[in-house]
Amino acid sequence: MTSRRPLIAGNWKLHKTLAESRELARAIASHVGSGLACEVVVGPVATSLAAVKNTLAGSAVGLAAQNTHWEDSGAFTGELSPVLLLDVGCGHCIIGHSERRQLFGETDAGVRKKVAALLVHKVVPILCVGESLEQREAGQTLDVVLGQVEAATEGLDAVALGPLVIAYEPIWAIGTGRTAKAEDAQEVHGAIRARLAELKGESWADSVRILYGGSVKPSNADELLAQPDVDGALVGGASLSPDNFIPIIDAGVRRAES
Ligand code: 13P
Repeated sequence: MTSRRPLIAGNWKLHKTLAESRELARAIASHVGSGLACEVVVGPVATSLAAVKNTLAGSAVGLAAQNTHWEDSGAFTGELSPVLLLDVGCGHCIIGHSERRQLFGETDAGVRKKVAALLVHKVVPILCVGESLEQREAGQTLDVVLGQVEAATEGLDAVALGPLVIAYEPIWAIGTGRTAKAEDAQEVHGAIRARLAELKGESWADSVRILYGGSVKPSNADELLAQPDVDGALVGGASLSPDNFIPIIDAGVRRAES
């Protein structure tokens, strides 16, 4: 048995109407029921959070938001806050996704503020890090990824970071059908854990769940999840249908039981 409970998280990105979100949530909730050996969370669009929370009632499936602002409230048109995410029933929030960094100008400094704000409100951040294809080809993968991890956790000690989850998502593997080789994912995950041990202490680093994301699907989930430092998956495209997402959940259960 691995000591870290695997986490399979679905990032629905900008997909699904209210009715479609409810339908997908219902199928996942009925598979997970009152709980499995791995943890499962789903991340719908903001307008579906409340409806999906209702649909998930009575099941062990958790609710994740896809972004937040760091302030609790105020003159921040268009934003959500950790207080509101808690209010709607989110236990998790994806932060620093490469799409937000690349398309919406999100910076390491902003990511750090969001991580800190979520932790204060006891919403678990799923902190996304990952290198571009150019950076990988230039041999900069570890510098980039470890730099992002360091920047996002700067000034926060192991106690403050508590339940933080990290998702390693190589940008070139997102939505491309191109997955990192399991050994390459392991190399980066292992390096993240080793750096966290240096920075924040070994016992906390050993407890941190590091998810892999980037074209995870039923056919590659077991191989990725067999790696010692791959503690789960952050799934985009394959989280949008029960036929694909449920087998990935089952791979998470197999990891938990291995
Ligand atoms: P895909 O699984 O569609 O590659 O997306 C991964 C991702 O970005 C999850 O956050």
